Amino acid sequence: MRILSGIQPSGDMHLGNYLGAIKQWVNVQNPEAFYCVVDLHALTLEIAPEVLREQTLDCATTLLACGIDPEISAVFVQSHVAYHAQMSWLLECVASYGELSRMTQFKEKASRKEGYRVGLLTYPVLMAADILLYDAVEVPVGDDQRQHLELARNVAERFNARYGDTLTVPVGVQPAAAARVMDLQEPTRKMSKSISSPLGSILLLDDPSDIEKKIKKAVTDTENEVRYDPENKPGLSNLLEIFSNVTGESPSVIASRYSRYGDLKSDVATAVIEELTPIAKRYRELRPDVAALRSVIADGARRAADVAGPVYQRAANAMGLL
Ligand code: AMP
Ligand code: TRP
Repeated sequence: MRILSGIQPSGDMHLGNYLGAIKQWVNVQNPEAFYCVVDLHALTLEIAPEVLREQTLDCATTLLACGIDPEISAVFVQSHVAYHAQMSWLLECVASYGELSRMTQFKEKASRKEGYRVGLLTYPVLMAADILLYDAVEVPVGDDQRQHLELARNVAERFNARYGDTLTVPVGVQPAAAARVMDLQEPTRKMSKSISSPLGSILLLDDPSDIEKKIKKAVTDTENEVRYDPENKPGLSNLLEIFSNVTGESPSVIASRYSRYGDLKSDVATAVIEELTPIAKRYRELRPDVAALRSVIADGARRAADVAGPVYQRAANAMGLL
């Protein structure tokens, strides 16, 4: 099945990225899956050029270390396939200012900085271009991307209504549990690359002792009943969701086995350490071989361009470009 998803090379990858997105990518990978390191999206926020370059390689390595096999799926860097920026312009002439300025993520990010970059506003259009260029049927993403995905669907539908049936309308897919992993110190806020307390995020390359410490110190509540109740017990429910994603059991079933927070935390820590240790090991093996990595992403870009080129042409023709 044709799949596309993307991740920004804008900071250290964390447990939310893995459980909410990358793990799903591994599970659904197939020769028609395209996984993109979205370096153009990273330019919407301040990032030093040399940092962006390194983090793009870090990010591609993470995807491989998590289990994406480049012999099966294509792993590539967004800026290496020029159709993304070209398609984005076409879609900017389909999307409306109003719908972009209503995006929650835009409003949050724009409110943090005066003189924010225009790219922050048009960001979801570039994301729509990423998706629509591949005729993606499914887009595996975390819960925070739902609104952007809805925009991509609306843009595709509007394009088709205006210019004739041209673009495939995609659907977003979320994992059953941990589609929104919350910050361990502030469980009403999502775990994020940009704002997080040092103890709030579990990074994929954290040492087991740090993972254990962070989970043991995770903020819960003052009751002592283990129950899955995201509204009233966000911290505890977050731990249950993480555990559920890792083991496949439902959060409520897991909760029913525990009477003490400490016991649950200890088992969640063990499960997360078991899940992440092989990833960190693999990452450290792969990251030094930059030549091999570059060859993987060059191959990915070729495969991506083979699919994106004809779709771009279809869209350009439909709009009347000569
Ligand atoms: P980003 O780091 O914003 O590029 O996100 C890459 C992928 O990770 C997207 O599919 C996001 O939805 C997902 N993601 C980011 N943060 C979280 C989180 N806290 N919980 C679940 N998924 C997340
Ligand atoms: N906006 C997404 C995020 O921050 C990343 C992204 C860019 C993406 N293009 C995409 C995700 C295409 C899915 C499909 O998480």
